[in-house]
Amino acid sequence: MDGALKTTPDMITEIVLKSYEKAPDPRTNQILQELIIALHGFAKAVKLTPDELIAATQLLARTGQISDHKRHEFILMSDILGLTMLVETMNDDLPEGAFEPSVLGPFYREGSPEIAHFDNISRGDNDGSPALVSGQVRDIDGNPVVNAMLDIWQTNNNGLYENMDDTQPDYNLRARLRTDGEGTYSFWTVKPESYPIPTDGPVGDVLEAGARHNMRPAHIHFIVSALGYKTIVSELFAREDEYIEGDAVFGVKDSLLVDFTPADEPAVASKSGMENPFWRMSYDFVLVAGDRAQTAFSTER
Ligand SMILES: [Fe+2]
Repeated sequence: MDGALKTTPDMITEIVLKSYEKAPDPRTNQILQELIIALHGFAKAVKLTPDELIAATQLLARTGQISDHKRHEFILMSDILGLTMLVETMNDDLPEGAFEPSVLGPFYREGSPEIAHFDNISRGDNDGSPALVSGQVRDIDGNPVVNAMLDIWQTNNNGLYENMDDTQPDYNLRARLRTDGEGTYSFWTVKPESYPIPTDGPVGDVLEAGARHNMRPAHIHFIVSALGYKTIVSELFAREDEYIEGDAVFGVKDSLLVDFTPADEPAVASKSGMENPFWRMSYDFVLVAGDRAQTAFSTER
């Protein structure tokens, strides 16, 4: 047609942005506008082809198809792309020195048994090498936080959580524990092991395409909460683990590194009916004032 202008990519972006600009909720409006700018900008930056767009939609379709009430592949996808850690870190509002958050992961279960100090959360026959974990919960000024709740979960030496492993007792290596009058806590467990995240779905395809491994460095998960303090969902990582530099889900932070050191203390071991020698790990959690919150989300495994 004489005089008609050929439609350009920028004209498309402009039309699409305009079509969404009347979203009445300001936050929804902002998110939609920025999403379109980022998506279109991405497609232009890589000059996305029609075949690649179809491949991307198929990857997303498979991500949904493999998800069920026990497996949330979209969360795992967000984890391996670093989006979960970016969002957690961007929103934590915590001062220097406070216990930092990390990913919740897909293996949290509510309702872990409440234990007493020096109880052993390893209830399996062959969970691994015994470790005594202890420390204190404090506020940012150094005062002990009495009656804080630690919700704890970890793998055994197979690198498996109990609900993924028929050989372990129900709720093995899971517990809730309260701090005492001095804000201290202590429990026996086993030294955790590094473990792989599942690669039989689209997450595995993305890891492979990026030439990345699927291992997480050994860690113990903690949710630390107390009345009048912000609830923190996090993990503590074994500093010496071979995968400490390349966590598949980017959960490692400097302040979350811990040392498992050999302990030769027969009196301490025998008092709890444990074998000597054992591993020791200690960590002090620093909470900041705020609202106690429920755990964000969890699939049932
Ligand atoms: Fe984990």
